[in-house]
Amino acid sequence: MRETASSMLLKAGTGVLTLAITFAIGGGDVVAQESLEDDVTYARDVAPILQQNCQVCHQPGSIAPISLMTYDDAHRYARRIRSKVAERSMPPWHIDRSVGIQDFKNDRGLTDAEIETIVQWVDNGSPFGDEADMPPPMEFPDPNDWQFAPDFGEPDMVFVSEAYDLDAVTQDKWYRPITETGITEERWVKAIEIRPVGLGSRRIIHHALAFLLQDEEQGERSAGSAEVTDRGAMGGPGLFMEWAVGKRGEIFPEGAGKLMMPGARILWEMHLHAIGEKVEAGQVELGVWLYPVGETPRNRTRLNMFDARGRSDLDIPPGEVAVTQDFHVLKWPARLENFQPHMHMRGKAMSMEAIYPDGRKRILSQVNNFQWQWHVNYIFADDAAPLLPAGTTLVITAWHDNTAENANNPDHTQWVGWGDRTVDEMAHAWVDVTYLTQEEYKSEVAKREGKTADPANDEDGPPAPANR
Ligand code: HEC
Repeated sequence: MRETASSMLLKAGTGVLTLAITFAIGGGDVVAQESLEDDVTYARDVAPILQQNCQVCHQPGSIAPISLMTYDDAHRYARRIRSKVAERSMPPWHIDRSVGIQDFKNDRGLTDAEIETIVQWVDNGSPFGDEADMPPPMEFPDPNDWQFAPDFGEPDMVFVSEAYDLDAVTQDKWYRPITETGITEERWVKAIEIRPVGLGSRRIIHHALAFLLQDEEQGERSAGSAEVTDRGAMGGPGLFMEWAVGKRGEIFPEGAGKLMMPGARILWEMHLHAIGEKVEAGQVELGVWLYPVGETPRNRTRLNMFDARGRSDLDIPPGEVAVTQDFHVLKWPARLENFQPHMHMRGKAMSMEAIYPDGRKRILSQVNNFQWQWHVNYIFADDAAPLLPAGTTLVITAWHDNTAENANNPDHTQWVGWGDRTVDEMAHAWVDVTYLTQEEYKSEVAKREGKTADPANDEDGPPAPANR
């Protein structure tokens, strides 16, 4: 509360404010006054923010171009830090904070108060402060280790893609090799993690998809896809996981998982981006943690690709902002685990809205500051993940800004349509859907005490799929 009140005052922006009025939580009484001027120091206020929110990427050998591990680093790059955090492009977390679910498992956004702390520190000449206030250095996992290993141990299986040598200067490449898994019996997956192999791969691999190719009937129950559009659903039974910078992996909720079948193969799709020097052996690997043989989770989770292209496909005229929308009906009760918008350079915003069978509407999530270089996966906290009854319509809406206002726009005089290259466009959301039985849905809703779904909605939907 103190910080919120302070930041509101600071936003008034006179730069000479010395007093912040503090409100008691819930009360609104003035309880304290405090001097803020020259108060913010690196050691006490800024170092903890950089440790928690920046250093995982801004350290030698990680993905960011500058290191922010020491006071000297932060002092040297102070102006750049100020502008990146003030415009909310760093850390990469571009969700709209004014609407939709706000509880995430992987929230790395800064609060308004943290942003104001950094801004004020820079404006005050980025002072160090008192050595005694310095927090101990953070320990970071080795980027060459599996990030889930501390939780689950080493993966039960590891699959490695074929390597690709990327020239120093060349167009973006999409490489699609296939790897045999050698699996001879059904196995249920409880967690997966994809990582580029080595520093070179970390620098050139923009994103990677791993599809599971296996013999499976494409019937309703097996595909279990939440309404497939007439173009089909790329994310039906087969997509295992999408990896992109800043996204490490997926852990399925208790009692849920993905299914690998005998003879399964992995089809990779690696999007490679040249960096001005030749990189040999660009490669990704996939670690899989399994449920014990014979343990079958109740629910099967599937990564769905929910299109926002609309019936008329993408048609983005030069100099205009285009809006497209598509609709996906859930055949069974479901819990949505995440929201991950996918667009390219003209991408501006995307929202996911639910229209309940009784007509009520709710915006579940919205990204309003989309940055195409970042594929941020917004993973809902367990007790915030939306529970939706059968018959709910998901509405995915995409905004593309093809005007000169869009700083990422390479050419606002060009017409743009759908395509693979980053100068073409896409418009879809990746969403992990866990289908529930009607009973599970009701009991989950009851547990939430009606917070995110309506417990009154207890009509029996169509029979839920068994666990496949
Ligand atoms: C998930 C990884 C990640 C996190 C977390 C992150 N950054 Fe970055 N940052 C990057 C990458 C990659 C770039 C270069 C590409 C870009 O600008 O998007 C970058 C660029 C920057 C730049 C511009 C560097 C230059 O060369 O001018 C600044 C400044 C910056 N980040 C500051 C921060 C601060 C401050 C935080 C924390 C509050 C932060 N970043 C958190 C990955 C990250």
